[in-house]
Amino acid sequence: MNSIKNIDSFGHVRGESLFVDDIIVQQNTLYGLVFDSPKAHGTIKKLDIAKAEAIEGVIKIFTYKDIPGENQIGGIIPDEPLLADNKVHFVGQPVAFIVATSDSIAKKARAIIEIEIEELPIITEAKEAAAKKQFINKPRTFNLGNTSKAFGDCDYVFEDEVFTNGQEHLYLETQGAYAIPMENGSIKVTSSTQGPTQVQKAIAKVLGIGMHHIEVDVIRLGGGFGGKEDQATPWATLAALATYLLKKPVKLILNRHDDLRMTGKRHPYESNFKIGLSKELKIIAFEADFYQNAGAAADLSPAVAERTLFHATNSYFVKNVKTTVYSCKTNLPPNTAFRGFGGPQGMFVIEAAIAKAAHEIGVTAKEIQEANLIQENDELPYGQIMTQAEAVNSWQSTIKKFNYKKLASEVETFNNKNKDFKKGIALMPICFGISFTNTPMNHARALVHIYQDGTVGISTGAVEMGQSVNTKMLQIAAQIFAIHPDKIKLETTNTTRVANTSPSAASSTADLNGKALLKACSAILERLKIVAAKELKVNEKELSLQNEWVYINSKKSSLSWKALIANAMLERIALSEKSHYVTPIIHFDKTTEKGHPFAYHVYGTAIIITTVDCTRGTYVFDSIKIVHDYGKSMNQGIDLGQVEGALAQGVGWMTMEEIAYDKKGNLLSNALSTYKIPDIFSIAEDIEVIPLETDGNEMAILKSKAVGEPPLMYGIGAYFAIQNAIKAYNPNYKLKFHAPLTPEKVLMSLYEN
Ligand code: MTE
Ligand code: HPA
Ligand code: MOS
Repeated sequence: MNSIKNIDSFGHVRGESLFVDDIIVQQNTLYGLVFDSPKAHGTIKKLDIAKAEAIEGVIKIFTYKDIPGENQIGGIIPDEPLLADNKVHFVGQPVAFIVATSDSIAKKARAIIEIEIEELPIITEAKEAAAKKQFINKPRTFNLGNTSKAFGDCDYVFEDEVFTNGQEHLYLETQGAYAIPMENGSIKVTSSTQGPTQVQKAIAKVLGIGMHHIEVDVIRLGGGFGGKEDQATPWATLAALATYLLKKPVKLILNRHDDLRMTGKRHPYESNFKIGLSKELKIIAFEADFYQNAGAAADLSPAVAERTLFHATNSYFVKNVKTTVYSCKTNLPPNTAFRGFGGPQGMFVIEAAIAKAAHEIGVTAKEIQEANLIQENDELPYGQIMTQAEAVNSWQSTIKKFNYKKLASEVETFNNKNKDFKKGIALMPICFGISFTNTPMNHARALVHIYQDGTVGISTGAVEMGQSVNTKMLQIAAQIFAIHPDKIKLETTNTTRVANTSPSAASSTADLNGKALLKACSAILERLKIVAAKELKVNEKELSLQNEWVYINSKKSSLSWKALIANAMLERIALSEKSHYVTPIIHFDKTTEKGHPFAYHVYGTAIIITTVDCTRGTYVFDSIKIVHDYGKSMNQGIDLGQVEGALAQGVGWMTMEEIAYDKKGNLLSNALSTYKIPDIFSIAEDIEVIPLETDGNEMAILKSKAVGEPPLMYGIGAYFAIQNAIKAYNPNYKLKFHAPLTPEKVLMSLYEN
């Protein structure tokens, strides 16, 4: 069972898998196109849609004035209109929604809409916003011990500035939705969203009708990576608005340029740190201020900011910690969830602080990292006491299994022998908390039907986005019912079948929905055993299911799975079950900023080795070797795929993916010619991932720990590996912490004096 392949693999390879744009459209389907603000900040003085609306084939152009309910889609804070009213706050902000009989007609209409905007001052950077007191909400601070006192006791204290850039999600499938009118004013929307309930809720609010009128269906996503946790909502809501008012099916699929321009990305952060150490290299105190570039509206920024604080000390135990995060309001598209959800931005800063301290003291970062790894019963800055701490275990396994000593001495030998090429090596430990940091979101439901022929249909709140959660769900049901996977179908994620879901996010989808599914399947199994016991005239405790057959004390009986289901039907036993799961134990008090927010943590350690071409500033990664804490992986192939994919995204974020806006808030990196994502050559030729040997964790589904986001943060090591190579070449190099570390920046650093 462990080797089961992603159930979508064949469909994907053959091009048979369905995405929103593949749905066979109904007759009279109309096509939507968004007219967006060409300016980053200003007051709309004139909006002339009349000429555009007069084009033949243009059915209607909607503005905020047409919205029957509330012009509001903000999830955490109601600060985001669906369509701009009298003001615009970023380039790409939806102003009007064109609906026409074809996409090309809609484009013609868009070209002749006239807008006049009286410009207001534009802010594109976080600290600039902070200086002007432009914030999304109040800052948050996590506090442990007393840093100001502790710095006085330190033998070394260092301070510096850090920048990490944003990151484009670049899901292969762009944002989109297809809305169709049903009877009595109801609407069915197929959306490419991680959060079907969010979409349902926003549509109901904008239309001013009950959520029961809106059915949201999600087949699967061609990638989400956090970019469709909140930001699939506007497009589905626009399509639904037009469908509601025109009573016609309306499809809206963003083209890549529109998607890049209109949607938010990973948050850029500007940060400051202060780190204090003892002679023995113990980190005694750590302070950091994080300035998060939230963009023009809150979106998920407050939650992302919170996770930055949760991960600001990464895998280390520090006795005195004070970290503050400011969500800064700028004139960029609202930035949003992206794999790691603020965690990577937090972790980069403490790794930078360690690199700085190591450089100044004249030791390796490894010595500082090693001396401070978190241990059993250590208290985290947010009050959770660490249990099942695997930081030391994963670190030591990495050092031992990959023979770190040998690798490091090979790097040194190479550097002694070579002038024009230098190698760098870095270690990157990770510790990532699993659960939505917002405790009330940690719940899920599942609905299971066994049909009378013995086949099974499963619905959960889980959205399949390539992470293979459907395969994991199928594994759970196949295991409990002991039936062949072919007998099980994963239904679409649908708000009518499974309601009030949290988005598929926080790497928790398999844990939450899987646990609910496990409960539902187990409940049906108990009922079936009673039927079988009666039929076979034995005690139900003696019964088990194996290979589609009923066994009595591990001996095959006369009763097959199929016959058992037929019997259960005759006995009028419920063959359907709905279950509800909530994560136990977790809690968090935002007034004290203390609690136990995470079900468990995921650990691991990576060794990254790079070779820098010191004439050109270019680099390759020789190898990335990882010991990763899967718990007891329920599907090693899928989980390895998640580690590799996340790693690629992490390395890309740190080294080459460079989002650029000009001072006017225009996205310059607006195509794949100006925005470079990693390809097969950018990642190490030699990637090795070994599972950490552990007992797993009861809070994880089948003890198989969440794997979606944590490995992204191994990529942070890529930055420091390159930095170490630069140090080997240029003794005058002054350490800088400004990601991504592109070849241009490497070249400058190699030759600065
Ligand atoms: N893997 C693929 N192939 N596509 C995705 O969109 N999203 C990532 C990760 N892995 C993603 C992915 C993100 S941001 C999260 S939070 C998790 O998957 C969500 O799924 P999970 O909770 O099932 O791990
Ligand atoms: N992670 C991911 N998505 C979220 C979270 C989180 O902790 N909280 C709200 N949305
Ligand atoms: Mo993932 S950033 O929690 O969708």
